[in-house]
Amino acid sequence: MTRMLVLTSSILAENGQSKALAERFIAQAGSRDGVEVTHRDLVAEQLPHLNLAELGSWQVAEEERSAEQRELASRSDELIEELRDHDVVVLAVPMYNFGIPSQLKAWFDRVMRAGVTFRYTENGPQGLLEGKRAVILAARGGQYAGTEMDTQTPHLKLMLGMMGITEVDTVFAEGLAMGDDTRNAALEEARQAIDGLVERL
Ligand SMILES: Cc1cc2nc3c(=O)[nH]c(=O)nc-3n(C[C@H](O)[C@H](O)[C@H](O)COP(=O)(O)O)c2cc1C
Repeated sequence: MTRMLVLTSSILAENGQSKALAERFIAQAGSRDGVEVTHRDLVAEQLPHLNLAELGSWQVAEEERSAEQRELASRSDELIEELRDHDVVVLAVPMYNFGIPSQLKAWFDRVMRAGVTFRYTENGPQGLLEGKRAVILAARGGQYAGTEMDTQTPHLKLMLGMMGITEVDTVFAEGLAMGDDTRNAALEEARQAIDGLVERL
């Protein structure tokens, strides 16, 4: 059984293009034998920004946590448990102001935990999640793939790699704000790329 965790983070509800790509992925992957898909909508989730109280709760030994610290630590614990439990993580990522949505950042802030999903060694950081791969479905108004204006995929790969997830495939849907023809062609190309990718995963 291959378990796939699909994370969506578009704020544009049913108009979200990255979410539409995620739905394509879910439909294609979910129809395959031996594949189980979990979908988590990080916008519906409303994870708050990480703050000192929550960060501090991780640093207290489990048996010594107050009720409030247990509650705070459980957010990160549950998200890490879910990530560990899946073989493939699919990130459907809108570009907002040249960054990833803050909702997705709030997820990374909770799954990237020193001593749990990565650790620092004499030779630098070491990822502690093994045997996983990732897929990025990137939706943007402009066209930046392969240039330094692609401020998202290097950042995402760095964070995934830090946890040990270094096998990453990316599907771009770019130029979505550059007129109907460009947009429709980009979405069709992305849909085909998703179908091909699902075959190979
Ligand atoms: C608040 C906001 C900020 C955006 N910033 C950018 C940007 O910096 N660069 C870009 O190319 N497109 C930008 N766009 C366009 C989105 O990337 C595009 O609409 C894409 O489809 C968003 O993904 P979604 O449809 O899944 O939400 C922005 C859109 C919104 C709503």
